Amino acid sequence: MLTTGISRLSFSAFRNYPQLQVDFHSPLIVILGDNGAGKTNILEGLSLLSPGKGLRSSKLSQMSTLTPGSIPPQNWTVAANLKDDNMDIMLGTGLDHTSSGSEKRRIKINGLPVRSQAEFSQYLNVVWIVPSMARLFQEGSSIRRKFVDRMVYAFDDGHADRLHRYEHYLRERSTLLREGHGDPQWLSSLEKNLAEDGIAIALARAEVVRTLTTHQPNDALSPFPRFFAQMRGDVEEWCRQMPAIAAEEKLCQALAANRLQDSYTGGSAFGPHRSDLFVNHLAKQMPAELCSTGEQKILLIALTLSFTKILINQNNKVTLMLLDDVIAHLDAHHRDYLFEELCQMIEKGAKLQTWMTGTSATDFVYLKQYAQYTTIKNTTLYDGYDNNDS
Ligand SMILES: Nc1ncnc2c1ncn2[C@@H]1O[C@H](COP(=O)(O)OP(=O)(O)OP(=O)(O)O)[C@@H](O)[C@H]1O
Ligand SMILES: [Mg+2]
Repeated sequence: MLTTGISRLSFSAFRNYPQLQVDFHSPLIVILGDNGAGKTNILEGLSLLSPGKGLRSSKLSQMSTLTPGSIPPQNWTVAANLKDDNMDIMLGTGLDHTSSGSEKRRIKINGLPVRSQAEFSQYLNVVWIVPSMARLFQEGSSIRRKFVDRMVYAFDDGHADRLHRYEHYLRERSTLLREGHGDPQWLSSLEKNLAEDGIAIALARAEVVRTLTTHQPNDALSPFPRFFAQMRGDVEEWCRQMPAIAAEEKLCQALAANRLQDSYTGGSAFGPHRSDLFVNHLAKQMPAELCSTGEQKILLIALTLSFTKILINQNNKVTLMLLDDVIAHLDAHHRDYLFEELCQMIEKGAKLQTWMTGTSATDFVYLKQYAQYTTIKNTTLYDGYDNNDS
C-alpha cells in the first residue's frame, strides 16, 4: 500500500479529460501513451498543486476542456489525495468564475478554501523537468530565473509574494516614469520597497543556488556531471561585497540615479530581474551554454536531482518529481543510473514519488518490478502496458 505520495487523482473538464479518476499505489509511476494521448496533461494537473501556474504556465481558461461553443470556458478541477505517513490530505484547485464573470483560481485544502496555491507547499514539493527546459541554458535569462525561483519556493514561503510585490512596484515605477509626472516622493518610496524586496529576492536565490552546488551528490561512479552554479548580476555582486542593508541602500540609490534612463527604456537597469543563473560543467570546465544538447539535458537532470535530494533531506514534506519525456532521451548508462538512484532513495525511506512519461514501455524495462505502469487510451488510464511493447 502506498504510504507516501498521490494515491488518487481526479480531473473534471481539465484539458483533454472531461472526467478522470485514477488510483495510484506506487512511489514510481510510468505513464505511457501515444503522442497526444494526454501524458503531459496528467503531469500538468499535478504541477498545479504547487505555487505558480503549473508546468506550462498556461492561462486558467486554456486548461478547460475545449468543447465547441462553450463560451466562457467551463470550470475545471484538479483534485488529489495525498498520503503522508498516517495523514490523508485532499488538495484541490480549479477555475472558477465570479458573479461578474471574471476568472479566478480556486484552491482548497481538505475541503476548505485557502488564499493561494502557495499554501500547497506546506504539504508538498513539486519538481519537474519538461521538454521545453532542454533549452534552459540557451534561452534568455528569464527562464533561468524562473527555474531558480521555483526552487526557492520550496524553502522560502515568502518568496512568491515578494516576487509579486516586486513586479508590481516595478510596473508602477515604469508607468510613473513613462508618464513623466512622477512625484519624487512617491518614486522614492516605490524604490525603497523595490530595494527591500529586491535584495531579499537576490539573497534567497543565491542561498538556494549555493546549497545546490555545495550539497550536490558526490558519487565517483555517477555518470551525471558535477557542476558549479551561481547567481550573477550587479545586485548579487553587491550582496557579496556588503551587508544586506548596505546593498539595499545601494540598489535604492542606483534606481534613483537611473530614473531618466529607465524612463526611455521602460524598465529598470538594476535589480534582481536582471540577474542570471550561471552553471559550469566542472569536469569539462565549460559553461553550460557551450555544452552539447545532450550534456545540457544531463546537467539539468543533475541540478534537479541535487535539488530533489536536498528537499528530501531538509524538509519533511512529500516530494513529487515529474519527468516528462525525459527518459527516452537518455543513453542507457544515464537512464539506468537514474533509475537505480530513484529505487535507492525510496528504499532508504525518501518521501518521494516520481512520475515519468514516455511512449514506449521498453525505455522503462529496468523498473519492471518496481513501478506502476499506466497506459492512456482515449482519455482513460489503464493499469499495465501493451505486452507487444516490451
Ligand atoms: N484545453 C484543452 N482541451 C482539450 N484538449 C486539449 C486542451 N489542451 C490540450 N489539449 C489536447 O490534449 C491532448 C494531449 O496533450 P498532451 O500534451 O498531454 O499529450 P502527450 O501525451 O503529452 O503527447 P506527446 O507525447 O506528444 O508529448 C492533445 O491532443 C492536445 O491538443
Ligand atoms: Mg507530452
